[in-house]
This record gives sequence, C-alpha cells and structure tokens, in this order.
Amino acid sequence: MKILAIESSCDETAAAVVEDGRRVLSNIVATQIDEHKLYGGVVPEIASRRHCESITAVVDEALSQAGMTLAETDAIAVTYAPGLIGALLVGVNFAKGLALAAGKPLIPVHHIKGHIAANYIAHPELEPPYLCLAASGGHSHIMRVYDYTHFETIGRTLDDAAGEAFDKAARAMGFPYPGGVHIDKASKNGDSRKYKLPHPKTENPYDFSFSGLKTNVINLVHNAAQKGEQIDVNSLAASFQFTVADILSYKFVHAAMEYGYKTAALAGGVAANTTLRELMTDRCKKQGIRLYVPPISLCGDNAAMIGAQAYYEYLAGNISDGSLNAAATMPL
Ligand code: KG4
Ligand code: ZN
Repeated sequence: MKILAIESSCDETAAAVVEDGRRVLSNIVATQIDEHKLYGGVVPEIASRRHCESITAVVDEALSQAGMTLAETDAIAVTYAPGLIGALLVGVNFAKGLALAAGKPLIPVHHIKGHIAANYIAHPELEPPYLCLAASGGHSHIMRVYDYTHFETIGRTLDDAAGEAFDKAARAMGFPYPGGVHIDKASKNGDSRKYKLPHPKTENPYDFSFSGLKTNVINLVHNAAQKGEQIDVNSLAASFQFTVADILSYKFVHAAMEYGYKTAALAGGVAANTTLRELMTDRCKKQGIRLYVPPISLCGDNAAMIGAQAYYEYLAGNISDGSLNAAATMPL
C-alpha cells in the first residue's frame, strides 16, 4: 500500500510516499528555518503563509521522486495535531482536497505518533510492545507503546519540553534559532562538569521539569554579563546538554525497568542530540534493554514518519472524511 503523506505542523513543509509503513519511496522537506531565525523563533503567521506557498510543489516533488501520479497512490495521510493551528490547517485542507479529488481514503496522523514511527522505517524488525521516549520542541513523553496505535503516557513534562528548553537556553547563550543543534555542536568543545545545574524533583518519578534548569542557565549568563565576567559558552552548553540527557535517560531507564520492558525506542527532534543518544544507548545496554534510535535524518519533522504511522492507522480503521479538522493540542 502506497501512502502519500503530508506534514505541516510547524516550520517544515513536507511530503513523502511510503509503502506499507516501512519503505520510503520519496521524502521531501522544505524548511522555513532561515526566515524564522530572523525573529528568534517560529512566527506562526509566516509559517502558515510559507506552507501555502510551498505545499503544491513539495507534494508534486514527492510524487515525482516516487515515480507516481496521485491516481497511483492508495491513500492520503496528513498530520492533523498537535502543532501550530494555522500551519496544520494548510496541510489538512490540502490533504482533504487531494483525497476528495482523487477518491482516496484520508488518514489523520498524530504528529508524535509519527515521530515514533520513524523507527519503523529505520528498523524493520522493531514491533510493539516497547517503551518510547519522545522528546521534541513540544513534547517530553515516556510512553508505553502497546501496539501500533495504542499508547499510554506514563511521564511527561510539567512545564517546558526538552527541545523548548534547549532552544531557550541556547538563545541565552547567544545561539540562533533553533538552538538545540548549536548547543550540541558547542558541547563537543566544552567540559560538561564545569557548571553545576539542578536536577528538578517531580512527584511522579517519570515526569520532567526543565523550566528551572533553563532559568538557571539564563540567570548564569545574565549574572556574568552584569559582573563583566566571561562565560565559557562551550562548557555551559556541555553542562546543560549533559544535565538534560542525564535526566531524560535516567528516568526513562528506570521506567523501563519498573514496567519490565526489554525493548525501547527514542523519537523526536531532540533524539538527534549526541549526548542523549550516547547516554540512552549506554544505560539501556547496561540493563539489557535493546534501544532503537532513528537516524538523524528522520529525527526532525518529515512526512515519511507520518506515512509510516498512517499505514498502521489505516490497518486499525482510523480513516477520516471531509469533516477532518486540525487541532493545536491533542492527547496521544
Ligand atoms: O521534533 P521536532 O523537529 O519538532 C517538533 O515537533 O517540535 O523537534 C524540534 C526540536 C527543537 O527544539 C530543536 O532545537 C531540537 O528539536 N533539536 C535538538 C537537536 N536537533 C534538534 N536538540 C538538541 N540537540 C540536537 N542535536
Ligand atoms: Zn516534530
């Protein structure tokens, strides 16, 4: 089954063709980052406009690289939630139009379920059940993946998501948006033990809280500036990165042990982080847990992951019609 998938939840306009949930026939991503960078973050109105401008060409390119016409696809999938509402609406309405015009089923996909499904593309042997850590700009979730379409969240962030904390801390350190990748690069030349940062306590041991940690970094930078002191940015980046990765991986592995999981997966934009990948891999290995990590190219937003999840949503009968709407928030 060949699914044409569309993703427009934030600042990437993306389309892909994926066969049977696992084989990517094309994967096109048009990023808007350079434009949003000027404003230090995503400007929702600009994002919607750029999606409108790019989506036709991006979908055409995805079909043409897959060597297919719209009529030859079996279904149209689209990210319908969560994300920027104006951005999501562009993809949802475009997908509805295509599905109606071509007489194809329309499959709505939850963005975070898509991130998790990126692992199915990279790891043909991976099948539920397993425990997943999904860390992105909007989510930090520990999830029990019961089967391809049923999930239970056992831990989540109480305030900032991991990626959001990375981006805000990065901004304080003087890096451009999105700062996560810049912190990652700077960390390579820093000493992660130089700055002591807090490990916030949470009532539920599997919840996260990153806002205090982020504020600590911001205060450190501001205090140093007021006193005319020099910050060792590389070491502050390394200390911050290590602390976030330490918290995420420590809690995740404990959850896996408590719930008896021997299979685990990492997902979301923050899954690209070097230290998080290393700590998760080491700690899972020590406990005999097989960890699946998506390739860097599939960690950030893309439509191939949406096409992968869409296949399983289709098999589960989760098909929509012209009444499909987008939603800015949506539980898993
Ligand atoms: O999943 P994603 O592409 O979009 C959302 O669904 O939010 O995640 C984007 C987030 C941003 O906060 C970005 O800074 C972060 O992922 N990110 C990273 C790295 N690459 C992307 N954070 C830390 N280290 C990285 N290498
Ligand atoms: Zn995402």
